[in-house]
Amino acid sequence: MPEIVVPLTIRPLTHDDLPAMAWYGPPTALAAVAEAIDRAHRGEVDYLAVCPPSGRPVAVGGADYTKPPGAATIWQLSVLESLQSCGIGTLLIHALEDRIRARGLRWAELGVDINAARPQVLYERLGYTVSGSETASWNQESADGTVSLYETQVTLLRKDLQAVPEAPGES
Ligand SMILES: CC(C)(COP(=O)(O)OP(=O)(O)OC[C@H]1O[C@@H](n2cnc3c(N)ncnc32)[C@H](O)[C@@H]1OP(=O)(O)O)[C@@H](O)C(=O)NCCC(=O)NCCS
Repeated sequence: MPEIVVPLTIRPLTHDDLPAMAWYGPPTALAAVAEAIDRAHRGEVDYLAVCPPSGRPVAVGGADYTKPPGAATIWQLSVLESLQSCGIGTLLIHALEDRIRARGLRWAELGVDINAARPQVLYERLGYTVSGSETASWNQESADGTVSLYETQVTLLRKDLQAVPEAPGES
């Protein structure tokens, strides 16, 4: 199989990136991203983009420093569908963890919808463990533009960012 190496840059997402992000989802989803960029300007969150040499984002995600107390929440992780399962999500999560450590916070938390639980395997592989669950709801936009409130149960996972990783073969 032919193989090429593509250098990737990780940088803050900006409003100028949004026109190139139709892949992310419908207008309501992109509006939530725009709001996150504004929050990054206020210092409440970091919101990062992973870009190939074109400079156009192929993955985004954020770290929210306002909750829960003493920790940060990693959220809105998304990788361009055709580039999923190549390690880009892992790279982005590590970059967000570095930002969280740099803020002096020890814990990273994230949530997985029980109806879309596939990413949980990835998070557990990266050292996150289940810490609880909560009810959550958010607006969802369907293909015809109808917006409805989606309610679900979310599994919460936590990682101690100061823990020393186990060497392979241990445990
Ligand atoms: C979840 C996601 C951010 C991971 O990024 P990624 O670049 O695919 O992840 P990596 O390549 O580093 O790791 C791959 C692992 O992520 C998970 N994963 C891969 N594709 C996925 C998909 N379409 N949806 C959900 N999880 C996926 C799997 O555990 C996968 O491991 P596998 O390839 O051995 O099955 C990305 O797949 C994605 O954007 N999924 C759709 C949106 C989503 O579910 N976001 C997370 C909400 S909590």
